[in-house]
Amino acid sequence: MTSASAVATALKTLDVDAVVIGIAAGDEGPVPLGGTAELDAALDGRLAKVLADVGATGRVGDLVRFATLGTLQASSVVAVGVGPLPAGGEAAIEHEALRRAAGAAIRSLAGSTKVAVTLAPGAAAGAVRAVAEGALLGAYSFDTFRTTSAKGRPAPVEEIVVVVGEADTAAAAAAVEHALAVTDAVRLVRDLVNTPPGHLPPARLAEIAEQQAATVGLLVEVLDEKELADGGFGGLLGVGQGSTNPPRLVRLEWPGADATAGTDPAPPALALVGKGITFDSGGLSLKPPTSMEWMKTDMAGAASVLATLVAAARLRVPARVVGWLACAENMPSGMAIRPSDVLTLRGGTRVEVLNTDAEGRLVLGDALVRAAEEKPAMIVDVATLTGAQIVALGQRTAGLLGRDAAVDAVAAAARDTGEAVWPMPLPPELRKSLDSMVADISNVPANGSRDGGMLVAGHFLATFVPDGVPWAHLDIAGPSWNGGEPYGHTPKAATGAIARTLIQLAEDRAAA
Ligand code: BES
Ligand code: MN
Ligand code: ZN
Repeated sequence: MTSASAVATALKTLDVDAVVIGIAAGDEGPVPLGGTAELDAALDGRLAKVLADVGATGRVGDLVRFATLGTLQASSVVAVGVGPLPAGGEAAIEHEALRRAAGAAIRSLAGSTKVAVTLAPGAAAGAVRAVAEGALLGAYSFDTFRTTSAKGRPAPVEEIVVVVGEADTAAAAAAVEHALAVTDAVRLVRDLVNTPPGHLPPARLAEIAEQQAATVGLLVEVLDEKELADGGFGGLLGVGQGSTNPPRLVRLEWPGADATAGTDPAPPALALVGKGITFDSGGLSLKPPTSMEWMKTDMAGAASVLATLVAAARLRVPARVVGWLACAENMPSGMAIRPSDVLTLRGGTRVEVLNTDAEGRLVLGDALVRAAEEKPAMIVDVATLTGAQIVALGQRTAGLLGRDAAVDAVAAAARDTGEAVWPMPLPPELRKSLDSMVADISNVPANGSRDGGMLVAGHFLATFVPDGVPWAHLDIAGPSWNGGEPYGHTPKAATGAIARTLIQLAEDRAAA
């Protein structure tokens, strides 16, 4: 796994394979960012000429590599574009632009062992953290299921050193530590989502949650199918009944860094609820093959919640945070629920299942009711819930809906982390489409309408969150998975999207 540190060593003598520098897009060509003066000196003042000669532009996505020919200990330099300089100068460059540039540069250097990054202009702690995060996120590959002989591909950079000024090393070291906690969480989400579903049934996901909890000191409790039946969790049981791999509900708790053992704890500051469908075939409402290919991503919500709790513990967040992983496998079989079957969810609400492929809302209904029983100050659920999210917002932007206070808090956290999230309404007139002929509510509109599918799903979930509880829902169907080429710090396949926002939200809740 990739390590990272902050150093104040002179660039010229730094014992690394390559040096990454940032360049902005100026009116007259690329402008090297701060931290490159020494490199320029080593090149006899010809850095600008070299960059021009190799056709660098400084625009986002621009990446050039040139040999240092002995002028530095490092054998090559990678210059990566951050886009036009903002009015406020280098210090005003958006952190996400730094993350993406660092990520793209580190990705391009796969196969190298040790790389220095000079990208943090002025070395403000926030910029150092962003650069370290981007670089660490760019150093990812998933090789667990390759045989040794097929591993001939270049491995991710092993060691990243962020070059900072002499005066900044203590703050920079703390910033890098923070970046490691956050990016390890993202890595955990990516690894879990990339894991083949046959290797990650609900019970295995719960076991991994227990292992992670033990490592960082979280409280953990797992309900098996027997306990789920005793607790009236008809959504999890109904969705899971078509599979030979039974469902699980995992409860994780970070008591808060200032929690005192033995005293009655205050209600959780934040409850996170994640959809953990380890594979979504659609059930009897079977998906077509091409839609099913990437349905191992359907536990990305639960993985993000697990990763957030782990990060909260590592960062010793001073707030009580509870996480719920609603885990089941949605399969067709002679045991599976049928379209038109009625399930009784936790708390007694009866749901008519008109489409077994709208299973996420069924397991989330159970988990939301259970989460609310502890009277948390805020509930946020995260789920790969609807294809309609992708239709509305595309592959990269998550849908956010719910009640104002919670929606605002999630939107603010997303803005701070640079993750793409966009608020969506809950138009009241869409609610009645879920009125059922036989039960309290149906899981999809009886008339088969797909209009506003992400919002209708939101209405369904809202039914299970008691009035007055601040609640937000994140639909990450698209963002959880990158079906295209890597970009910035985002790899192919599992992205780990939204974990950074949830960690920020937990930190914000502590401050609130
Ligand atoms: N897991 C899917 C949603 C999804 C789609 C996630 C694409 C990631 C990528 C969800 O369970 C589902 O099947 N939703 C249905 C709902 C419909 C039946 C109302 C959908 O979106 O088609
Ligand atoms: Mn489905
Ligand atoms: Zn699903």
